[in-house]
Amino acid sequence: MKIHLNGKRIEVAAPPMKRLLDVLREDCGLTGTKEGCGEGECGACTVLLDGEPVNSCLVPFAQVRRARVVTIEGLTGSRRLQEAFVTEGGAQCGICTPGMVLAAAVLPKKASLKEIRVGLAGNLCRCTGYEGIYRAIKKSARFYVRRSTLKTKRLSRRKTR
Ligand code: FES
Ligand code: FES
Repeated sequence: MKIHLNGKRIEVAAPPMKRLLDVLREDCGLTGTKEGCGEGECGACTVLLDGEPVNSCLVPFAQVRRARVVTIEGLTGSRRLQEAFVTEGGAQCGICTPGMVLAAAVLPKKASLKEIRVGLAGNLCRCTGYEGIYRAIKKSARFYVRRSTLKTKRLSRRKTR
């Protein structure tokens, strides 16, 4: 199936019901997307689908046929945000960090602390507490995605049982 991944149109041979998380890691070699819970609870597997953060452990590969997928490897223009995670102590073990950065990258520019908290509500970190993460996001003034330029397609980030 042809998909649009990190700005390129590529062909990926994978079963339609394979989890997007596994397709990215196993078939595309993009191991920046992490697996935490595998159940839609932790946000470690966050990628952007048409500019919206989704849990790739809940998304079947077939569902991204017409979507634009961005992983942490393809998140260009987020250098300041990523540097702030380092300098503000927002990243320790690194499992949650890629998902946090992706979720943060689509927050409104100059998001308030409340907006940051809401935007990252689906991303859990067991290492740092959240103060360093929130500080890092507030510190970086520029964000990567201009939401208005993207077709939005919201997929539920909640666990579907
Ligand atoms: Fe935890 Fe996907 S691995 S939400
Ligand atoms: Fe370890 Fe977030 S840095 S879970």
